[in-house]
Order: sequence, then structure tokens, then C-alpha cells
Amino acid sequence: MCGIVGYVGKRNAVPILIDGLRRLEYRGYDSAGVAVRTPDGAVLLQKRAGRVQGLAEAVGGEGRRLAAARIGIGHTRWATHGSPTDANAHPHADEVQAVAVVHNGIIENHVALRAELEARGHGFRSQTDSEVVAHLIEEALREGCATPGQVGQGGSSADPAEWLRRAVQAAVARLHGSFALVVLWEGAPDVLVGVRNQTPLVYGRGDGEAYLASDVSALVPHTRDVVVLRDGELAEVGPDGLRLFAFDGGALPPRPVEHVPWDAAAAERGGYPHFMLKEIHEQPAALAETLRGRVKAAGPALEQHLDFRTLRALAAAPQVWLLGCGTAHHAALVGRALMESWARVPALADLGSEFRYREPLVAPGAVAVAVSQSGETADTLAALREARGRGALGLAVVNVVGSTIAREADAQLPTLAGPEISVCSTKAYTTQIEALTLLALQVAVLRGSMAAGDVARWAEALGRMPAWAEAALALDPDVAELAGWLAGSDHCFFIGRGLDHAVAMEGQLKLKEISYVHAEAYAAGELKHGTLALVTEGTPVVALFTQPHLAEKMASNVAEVRARGGRVIGVCAEGLRAAAAPVCDHILALPDVPGPLAPAIAAIPLQLLAYHVAVARGADVDKPRNLAKSVTVE
Ligand code: M6R
Repeated sequence: MCGIVGYVGKRNAVPILIDGLRRLEYRGYDSAGVAVRTPDGAVLLQKRAGRVQGLAEAVGGEGRRLAAARIGIGHTRWATHGSPTDANAHPHADEVQAVAVVHNGIIENHVALRAELEARGHGFRSQTDSEVVAHLIEEALREGCATPGQVGQGGSSADPAEWLRRAVQAAVARLHGSFALVVLWEGAPDVLVGVRNQTPLVYGRGDGEAYLASDVSALVPHTRDVVVLRDGELAEVGPDGLRLFAFDGGALPPRPVEHVPWDAAAAERGGYPHFMLKEIHEQPAALAETLRGRVKAAGPALEQHLDFRTLRALAAAPQVWLLGCGTAHHAALVGRALMESWARVPALADLGSEFRYREPLVAPGAVAVAVSQSGETADTLAALREARGRGALGLAVVNVVGSTIAREADAQLPTLAGPEISVCSTKAYTTQIEALTLLALQVAVLRGSMAAGDVARWAEALGRMPAWAEAALALDPDVAELAGWLAGSDHCFFIGRGLDHAVAMEGQLKLKEISYVHAEAYAAGELKHGTLALVTEGTPVVALFTQPHLAEKMASNVAEVRARGGRVIGVCAEGLRAAAAPVCDHILALPDVPGPLAPAIAAIPLQLLAYHVAVARGADVDKPRNLAKSVTVE
């Protein structure tokens, strides 16, 4: 986790770093800091516990000295080792503050390295795993040259960039774990060194300027020309551009820059009070975009988007795994069900964080679909690696193009939701469901498990998803009213059957994640096996009625809840109102979406409910406590 940023060029570095950190704050927001090198060669640090805004106020008071800096690094933290204090905030420096480092990831051998460095006289200021890196680099530089002024004496080069690069290489050779690093040295006036190992880092090319950042959202206000670093690469960046090296020091061939299609405005709130609300309302457009060019009148058109090897594997797969975490797992549950019912292939959905620990029986020829918004979730990445290691073909359904999961998979089917900034996932979820639905339909075609007329009917219905999403958004005022009541509760249940159970799981996660109301999802038929004991007078229950073949059974389960005093919000398809209304206290009626396509649409009022409850309770909607957008630790 954590967001890192670096800048070198001709402008005042501090505002650029602060702006980059604001854009990366979704990655963690326990503390923030910057380090700059002033033109007179001093490395200055400013860091503090709390949000980037606090840091911005602190650097504002620093005046001219900071404003003169044209090179610097910044960090916004999600704490792993050491509590969120000023001392544990990044950047970290050596004792004499010659070197400053920002780090995202975990240095797994930091305890041994620290003991070794302390034995050699290094003094530590923090409890972090990251600080060892600054000391290792400083030591490597000192062993090569006593002071920056002596650079080149006794060495092979007078080039400070080469000194810094070699020192970073020496330090990296000692590190175990995951790390993206950006390093600033007092001896190098216009060079930053970045390193990537299992944690993302992107170079941005400006006009006589260079940027490094954890992801492109920090770069898009300045440049859309980027190079995504690969694991095992070291980047030396400066006003003249990028030079790539392997960890062992060998120069790597230049890689062409890629052009990022997002613009800066796409990453802004666009007038909404919160990113989450903006992203909820972007769902019709995101669903349309994810579908564009991928479906035609006769059926899905993924043959044009997936290579022959992947299509052949999908056609013949004896088994499909769908791997993801949190909300992505809930989307995978829907994909699993359709893969079975439409494509008639045995499908399993598993949590990224569990899959590799249970000796999974991956059948020869299986396909593993990794589902992830960020494409950087460590658990999902590990699950993908496990599945591929066991012989499965890996297919990534990710939102961030160029992410690690996208690159490690054999093929990818991106969701085209655009940047999702709020920690709480909304448009990524509905587009994941849509992409997985499309995939299941394509696999049904490849395997001949569905009649041509049915394929065409589902293809036509998929095209109506954006309009159905619009209709679901129109429920907002009714949802907001109900939220006023729910905001006063401490508990809430979400129940459903079949695909509605998967939606219920997503609804409960949304609510507890941002409003801190305790919520549980249950398969409605399971309540009577224990949980019904918790339903008393006034207990809020959200009941889903979008699956026509299960509506009667669902009504019976809801009646059981009602009989115990539960207060029920029914989220139903308009056509199922007659079944739902008699057993519910409130009805939120959705358009008549066919059952298999209902989950993405039914989730929308649940997203809105969580949003309004969180606002009513005064919670920090976009940055819920203890969480981060991209979970890059296991
Ligand atoms: O980036 P990913 O889709 O891999 O993230 C997976 C989960 O961490 C994520 O969906 C999480 O559950 C969300 N905060 C839920 O809103």
C-alpha cells in the first residue's frame, strides 16, 4: 500500500509533490511527507501523521527554502510496521540526511538488516521496515565516496547519477520482500532513482521534467506519456528522460512510452461531494464503455479481443476458477454462477487470500480468472500466480491497464470503468459483473451450450444495462429517505437467494465499510438455521427480490423475519412487487431486468443506501477508517 511520488525538473517541486500525494491518498492516509533537495545541496524533510492536507499546511509555512527546490519525493502512508506517527512517516533518511527514501511495500528482512546496521553504528529514528533502505544506500555511497564533493574520487565515474544508481543497486541486493522505492540524494542535483519489485511504479515524461509515481492518477495533470516499470527494474530519471537498468546493474533497452487515455478531469470529483457518489453515477457510462465493441446483435464479440490461445483454452477448460478479494470476490460469485448455468462448465469462486493455502485441485487445462479493480491486490496476484503455477491459463479482468495482474496474466479482458478513486468500490464492481457476464456468454458460445436464439437475446439484453442502471439511480431520493432511518441502527441484515445472495454480500460490505454499521449477508433460506435468533423488534433487514423463480420462497423467508419484528426494505424487480410488497415495510422497485443480469443493477440502490447512511452518520465516505484503496500487502 502507500502512495509514492517523485519530481525533478524546472518547477517548484513541493506543490507538484503535494498534488500528487492528494491524488494517491486513496492508497493510504495515515501520514504524509516530502523531502526535497535545495539548490545549495541540502536535503530537507517535512512529514507528519495525518492526511496530506496537514502536510500541505505545514510545508506552506516553510517559505522560500522549500520553494526553491526543483527535485523531491513524497509519500502517503498506510501503516504496516510502526504506528502512524510523525517519526514513522516517510520519507526516511540516514542520520546525516544525505539520502531520503520513500517506500511502498514490505522489507521482510528488515529486522536482521536493522540489527546489522545498528551494530555498525547506524542510529534509527523510526520503527518502520523502510528506514533500513536509507541507511543501506547512505552506507554504500559513503563506502564509495566520503562526501558528495568527493564524488568520483577513487571511483570509476564522476557522474553522481551513476554513484547513486550503484548505491541503490547495492542496497536493493540486500532486500527481501516487496518494494517500490524512490531515492533522493544530496549529491545528485537532478536525478532520482526509482526501483520496482512487486509493487507498482510508473515513470512520467514531461518537457524537461520527469515524474515517478505509484500510479498514473498522480501524473495525469502533468503528462500522459508513461512507462510502467517492471519487476526487477531500476529507473534513473532526470530532465533528459529515463534510463532503465536491471538490479544487477546491466543497462536495459529503452522502452517506448505509452499514452494514458485518462485525463486529469476524469480523476477529479466533477462537482459531486464525494468520489463515491460520482462513481455511483458514472455507472451507466462505465457499463456502456465496458460493453463497447464487445457485443453484437448475434452475440458476444470477444473473439476480437482475446487471442486464439485464450479462446481455445476457454472452449476446452474442464474447470474455471474466479479469484478476487472483497467486492471483486462478490462479482466473481456472479461470474461463477453464470459460467455454470450458461456455459455449463464447473466453476469455482475463491478468495484471493485463501486460494493458495488450501492445496487447490486445479484441473489440467483450467482457466483462472483474476478479478481486480486495481490489478495490484497482493492476495489476488498471489492466487493468480498459484493457479498459473498449477497449470491454469490466467485471464485478468482488471480496471487498471498496465497493472501487475494485467501483465502477469496470459490474457486480459479489462473493465473500462475509468479511474475509481473512492476506497469503496462501486463502478468497478458493476463493470466486473458485466465483463464476467459477457465472458460467460462467450464461453457458452465457444462450448455450444446455449441455443443461438438465446445467445442473441442475452446479447440484446446486455445492451440495455446502461439504461437499467440509469433507472436504478433514479431511486436515489427514496433511498436517501430510508437511509435516515437506517443511520440510527447498529446492525442490519441483507438477505437474498441465488444471485441475490451474492448481491446481498456486496450490500453488506458497502454498508459496513463506509458507515461502520455492522451488517451481515445471509442466504435467505439459512436464516432459520440460527441467525433468525438475532432478529427482534425493529431489526433492519434488506431483502432482495430480483430472481423470479425464487420470489415465492424469498417471500416466505421474509415473512419469517417480519413475524419476529424485523423491519424490511424490499429491493425488487417491478414485476416481483406483488410477491415482495405484502412482506416488506418499504419497497424500492427496479426495472424488470432478467434474473441473470439483475445483480449489477440491484447493487446500485444498495451502494446509494450505504452512501447516504455514511453521510448521515458523518463518516469519511471516500476514505473509511483503517482501509486503503489498493491492498498491496498480504
Ligand atoms: O483492487 P481490487 O479490486 O483487487 O480490490 C479488492 C478489494 O480490496 C476491494 O474490492 C475492497 O473490498 C473494496 N474496498 C470494497 O469496496
